[in-house]
Amino acid sequence: MAEFELPTVDLNVYSPKNPAEATIVENYVCTAESSPNIIRHITFDVSGTDLDGKFKVGQSIGVLPPGEDHRGKPHKLRLYSVSSPSKGENGKSNLVSTTVKRAMDEVDGTFYMGVCSNYLCNLKPGDKVKVTGPSGRRYLLPTNAKDFNYVFFATGTGIAPFRGMIMELFEQGITNQVALIFGCPYRTDVIYPNYLHEMEAKHDNFHYIKMISREDRRQDGSKYYVQTAIDDHADTLSPILGAENTLIYLCGMKGMETGIYQNLAKHGFFSYLTLKGDLADRDPSTWTWEEAKKMIKPSVRTFEEVY
Ligand code: A2P
Repeated sequence: MAEFELPTVDLNVYSPKNPAEATIVENYVCTAESSPNIIRHITFDVSGTDLDGKFKVGQSIGVLPPGEDHRGKPHKLRLYSVSSPSKGENGKSNLVSTTVKRAMDEVDGTFYMGVCSNYLCNLKPGDKVKVTGPSGRRYLLPTNAKDFNYVFFATGTGIAPFRGMIMELFEQGITNQVALIFGCPYRTDVIYPNYLHEMEAKHDNFHYIKMISREDRRQDGSKYYVQTAIDDHADTLSPILGAENTLIYLCGMKGMETGIYQNLAKHGFFSYLTLKGDLADRDPSTWTWEEAKKMIKPSVRTFEEVY
């Protein structure tokens, strides 16, 4: 595989004890259509702080929601993946964006709203927010980014870093292949559809694959998930995954990890994985889910940010 180096990055210029104050400049719904799955694109202005120009694509920004939890302690910091490129949103080094889903849930008949995501989603331009960061030292694009092909696997707001990475790669004039596999429940939940369709129309080397889980079923009755794209879109993905200079990135639900690894192995793409125990000596079709979960780790070609 081609060698790569990761850029050196700034870390924790601001911490929860001494946060910076950012100002909201935009906050809008960024899904295909209005949907019960509410996803917003939120941009912070960090000018006048030492965060100006500091975030690299792939890193996260911390947000300190005001108020206290049920034990009277100040709310803890939440991390959000940056969705703007390293140059900043619209090329402005003082603008940092993120992609936030309004979290809500019902447990035993009681409705709960996510503390920080709802705080952020309710903010208006001009409102001030306490932020920290940057955080993350490995989930980055290599310094020689154009030398590689990329396969990005995202579920839901896991798309955040890939929006910025795709912007950055094509701004650099990448001629290698870039595939984005994006999973969400319904077509209305597709995030950043306008930008991504535009990129697909403009660049033959950009492949945009949507895996919609709750509208249709695969022939065997299973759901369309990001990992099933390795089978369902093998014509597009196999040549890219089989190339020597391809890196893969996963971002989103932890559940996708094992499925992606198992499917890569079934197709013979072992170099993205580190196999423990006796897995390497056995046919991947005999690996159980539990074994795969415990004994497959990412290799140096695989980057993951799952939660
Ligand atoms: P589903 O919930 O239909 O099973 P969102 O964050 O917008 O809810 O989207 C997450 C997407 O990831 C949904 O399409 C969801 O499908 C899907 N998903 C759920 N579990 C897994 C898993 N184990 N592997 C891959 N995708 C998953």
